[in-house]
Amino acid sequence: MLEIKGITKKFGGLTALDDLSFTVNKGEIVGLIGPNGSGKTTLFNIITGLYTPTTGKIYYEGKDITRIAPHIRCKLGIARTFQVPRPLPNLTVLENVRIGALCRTNKIEVADNMATEVISFLNMIDKKDYLPGELTGPELKKLELARALATQPKLLLLDEVMAGLTPREIDDMLEIIKKINKSGCTLLIVEHVMKAIMPVCERVVVIDFGKKISEGTPEEVSNDKKVIEAYLGREYVERK
Ligand SMILES: Nc1ncnc2c1ncn2[C@@H]1O[C@H](COP(=O)(O)OP(=O)(O)OP(=O)(O)O)[C@@H](O)[C@H]1O
Ligand SMILES: [Mg+2]
Repeated sequence: MLEIKGITKKFGGLTALDDLSFTVNKGEIVGLIGPNGSGKTTLFNIITGLYTPTTGKIYYEGKDITRIAPHIRCKLGIARTFQVPRPLPNLTVLENVRIGALCRTNKIEVADNMATEVISFLNMIDKKDYLPGELTGPELKKLELARALATQPKLLLLDEVMAGLTPREIDDMLEIIKKINKSGCTLLIVEHVMKAIMPVCERVVVIDFGKKISEGTPEEVSNDKKVIEAYLGREYVERK
């Protein structure tokens, strides 16, 4: 479904992604993990078209989308959430989610029905008329997810939707993620809460300084010395 092929992204003298390649198969839930600043969000920006890679290509359903505009990628079925929520502050929850739905229809009424359905699915219908400024952090994360889901994606990229959630809220979010996947949507998930994503991901890709350092089942990568070192520090490995 998605092929990342030799992606390098340079910001001046800084190489944020360094010849990164991996694939995501249709129907999978793939985790993308790595320390702060390792290039995870940069990759999402490249997959969705906010950034153009310095070199390399992105293929989606077999098609080279490397230079296609972000809104066209959205129409093709790619949606993402932003790590730092980016609601439209003067619009209500329903109106924010409507914007996503307008990717599939130009009728406001139809878009509102689609948005209402998504908001209900995320258990926040009681907040539909709230402004983003009146929401809590976790609710803002859900709003991000709602707007992305309203575009009816085939491939959904989640950038740390579980950061800052309580264990109970994480469990709820994991259930939601599983349901989204069961409905036929492929997911690529960036998350720091390793314990949270390990049970839902079939495969995990680990990057460090923009390079892939490991790839495999959650079990395989969590036992990989390179991963433990990059994540928890050399001291942890030595103690083990
Ligand atoms: N627009 C930009 N201009 C310059 N440097 C950037 C830009 N975007 C990202 N970077 C740099 O690229 C590197 C990778 O950043 P990125 O945000 O992709 O990391 P990340 O893995 O998402 O980190 P985190 O876990 O903290 O969210 C960092 O060194 C960052 O400072
Ligand atoms: Mg990030």
